[in-house]
Amino acid sequence: MESYIMAPHHESLFKFSPKLRLGILASGVGSNFEALVKATRDSFLQAEISLLIVNNPNCGAVNKAISLGIPYQIIDHRSFPSRSEHEQQIINAFQKSDVEILVMAGWMRIVTSLLIKSYPDRIVNIHPSILPSFRGTNAIKQALKSGVKITGCSVHLVNEEVDSGPILVQVAVPILKEDNQESLSAKVRKQEHKSLPIGVAIAGKRWREANYG
Ligand code: GAR
Repeated sequence: MESYIMAPHHESLFKFSPKLRLGILASGVGSNFEALVKATRDSFLQAEISLLIVNNPNCGAVNKAISLGIPYQIIDHRSFPSRSEHEQQIINAFQKSDVEILVMAGWMRIVTSLLIKSYPDRIVNIHPSILPSFRGTNAIKQALKSGVKITGCSVHLVNEEVDSGPILVQVAVPILKEDNQESLSAKVRKQEHKSLPIGVAIAGKRWREANYG
C-alpha cells in the first residue's frame, strides 16, 4: 500500500461556475502552490488563482509564480512593526483580488484572529502529518523520531489554535524501515499535492452553498 486517501471524491465536488477564486499564502519551495496551479489548469479543479502572497522575497514559490504566470506579491513580515499590521496588508491585497478561499500552501507563519475572522471557515491549511499528531514544525522529523508506522498529511480549515481546525482530507503514508527524512518527506509531499486540491474544493463548495445556495 503506497497511500490511502480519506476524502469524498465526487466529480461535482470540483465544478464551480463561476470559477472559485483562490488566494494562496506560501513561504517556501512552493510545490503545493504549483500542484494547485496544475489542478486548475488541468480543469480538475474549476478555480483560478487570483493572487499568491509570499513573506520570503527569495522563496521558490515566487520563481514558480513567475514561470507559471500567476500574479504575486511579496509582503515581507520583517517590514512591518507588528503581526497584525502584516496581516492587515495581506487581507487588503486578497480583498482587492476578490478572493473567496485562502490556501496556506506551506505558510510558515502563525496566523491571528485578524486574518481568521476576515475569512471565517475559508482558510485551508496543509500539514505533513495525520493531525492531531505531530503539530507545529518538523512534523516529518517528529514522526520518524516517534517510531510510528504510519504518518501522512492533513488538509484542514484554520482556526485559532495551531494545526487544529476541522479536517477536510487526510492521507495515510506508511513509514518503512529504510525511510529517512528525505524519502519520507518526498512520499508525503506527493500525497499533499493530490489532497490539497480536494480539500480546497470541499471548503469552496461549503462556502458557495452557504452564501449562494
Ligand atoms: C509542506 O510539506 C506543508 O505541509 C508544510 O510545508 C511544506 C511546504 O512545501 N507545512 C507545514 O508544515 C505547516 N505547518 P512546499 O513549499 O513545497 O509546498
